[in-house]
Amino acid sequence: MTATPFRSAVVPAAGLGTRFLPTTKTVPKELLPVVDTPGIELVAAEAAQAGAEQLLIVTSPGKDAVAAHFADSSELEATLAARGKDALAAKVRRAHELIAVRTVTQDEPLGLGHAIGCAREAIDPAEGCFAVLLPDDLVLPSGVLNTMSQVRAEKGGTVLCAFDIPREEISAYGVFDVGSTSFGDVADAPDVKQVRGMVEKPAAADAPSTFAAAGRYLLDVAVFDAIDRITPGAGGELQITDAIALLISEGHPVHVVVHRGGRHDLGNPGSYVRAFVDFALEHPDYGPELRTWLAARLAD
Ligand code: UTP
Repeated sequence: MTATPFRSAVVPAAGLGTRFLPTTKTVPKELLPVVDTPGIELVAAEAAQAGAEQLLIVTSPGKDAVAAHFADSSELEATLAARGKDALAAKVRRAHELIAVRTVTQDEPLGLGHAIGCAREAIDPAEGCFAVLLPDDLVLPSGVLNTMSQVRAEKGGTVLCAFDIPREEISAYGVFDVGSTSFGDVADAPDVKQVRGMVEKPAAADAPSTFAAAGRYLLDVAVFDAIDRITPGAGGELQITDAIALLISEGHPVHVVVHRGGRHDLGNPGSYVRAFVDFALEHPDYGPELRTWLAARLAD
């Protein structure tokens, strides 16, 4: 089966990043480094690897630096090359070469659903669907968007991504209410489920499943009309989950792929530190020394 490719990947990056204040007074959360590379560059690489041709970054008026990270940097590259620092020049060039980047502006942070709606002007309805990647959610290893594309090729509609979370931790998440699904030759495929609904942060005993929403979406372009028809929900914001719930109520097929892998949340300092340390431990230059230092520090 050939997966239906998607052309556009939307990366909403217009939020206030309040959990990272005071840093986010001036530094966009999406540019915080994971070792030496901004989180949004890791997510851009994932989108490119999944076949996206354009990255649509949703930015706000004060966050121009996010798109600037992907701009041409030939002057800096030439300076580095002239100093014999070719490896550094290649690192600098990577973001610009990964994927074509275009920005759309969200003037006010009116919610994730509203941010995604701002991308409408840059997506041709003939594209059929588009991906959304939340830049503060690292889904590891990358590749889940390819599986999601395969599911859309077979089932049509909208495809979401979930993690199977221990029930005692589930009340921190948006949780899917799912039915069983056959996929390809596999009846009741364990990792592809039809979505009946979603519940935000349920008590563990009331959770309809242990499948928690992750920051990867393959949305049918029908979602734009649904966003136009929803009203502000939790926190006075336009929620993408409300737009998806509206589509489900109208019979639009929505499936979820349960990703069996790791995840890092770069959106708050506590879990960001874990991501940073995890990536640093794997880094050939910094890993070995960090491991030694950490072991000694923990033995203190
Ligand atoms: P978050 O809720 O994690 O980000 O939204 P935030 O609002 O910036 O952070 P806090 O909660 O204040 O600390 C997930 C993603 O959606 C984007 C954010 O930039 C983030 O990448 N977003 C959120 C928008 O683009 N616009 C919005 O109105 C809300």
